[in-house]
Amino acid sequence: MPDTPDDSRAEEWVSETGDVRPLLAPPVTPLGRPIRLGVLISGGGSTLANFLRCRGEGLLDAEFPLVIASRPDCGGLQIAKNAGIRAEVVSLKDFNSTDEFSERIFSLLREVQVDLVTLAGFLCLVRIPSDFANRVMNIHPGLIPSFCGKGLYGMKVHEAVLARGCKVSGCTVHFADNVYDHGPIIVQKAVPVLEGDTPQTLAARVFEAECQAYPEAIRLFADARLIVTGSCVRILEQPL
Ligand code: GRF
Repeated sequence: MPDTPDDSRAEEWVSETGDVRPLLAPPVTPLGRPIRLGVLISGGGSTLANFLRCRGEGLLDAEFPLVIASRPDCGGLQIAKNAGIRAEVVSLKDFNSTDEFSERIFSLLREVQVDLVTLAGFLCLVRIPSDFANRVMNIHPGLIPSFCGKGLYGMKVHEAVLARGCKVSGCTVHFADNVYDHGPIIVQKAVPVLEGDTPQTLAARVFEAECQAYPEAIRLFADARLIVTGSCVRILEQPL
């Protein structure tokens, strides 16, 4: 058996040392139960707050067994606390390498058996282990492949879009791989750039799109409607 799964629809894989792990690829049948989401944050937690709002409004059938913050001063930790969600701080500076930092994060996520990991304003690069391939989503406040990559996050994206004179911007939800803002694209939503926009007004308009796009991508995942083929995602009309 290969050390890494090459068939994203297989149900389990066996490593060279013989341990069998469930292959965490997009589900092939609808979950039929609330999806268990791990949420990784570095800042204010506005995306986490949106998930909770969507759950409250019946738009997202989800459980939140764990929030992981990359800094102890993340505002999003208070949002987790208020919602009664377990939250852990895992700081890169406490580890010798990105690999060790990532191992800690994914071992916590394995313990609580998440179905999907959502990067929600998480600013650190993580190395995604093979058993989480296509099980980690990210949202970027721009239309990938433009205005993305290392150093282009948050308000910096909107500043760059305005400086370039773009007429549209938007957001992208994609499966994360081991490169910033790089993996297969799941959902994109465009918004207009308006005369007189500031980075703040544009960010607010893009965030409204983000608030729809991320729950939509999670629902597609939970409903087994995503197939990853190489660097592309196919969205099925209905599960196979
Ligand atoms: C979201 O707008 C998303 O686009 C980006 O981070 C933002 C959330 O950040 N990746 P925060 O948690 O509210 O600081």
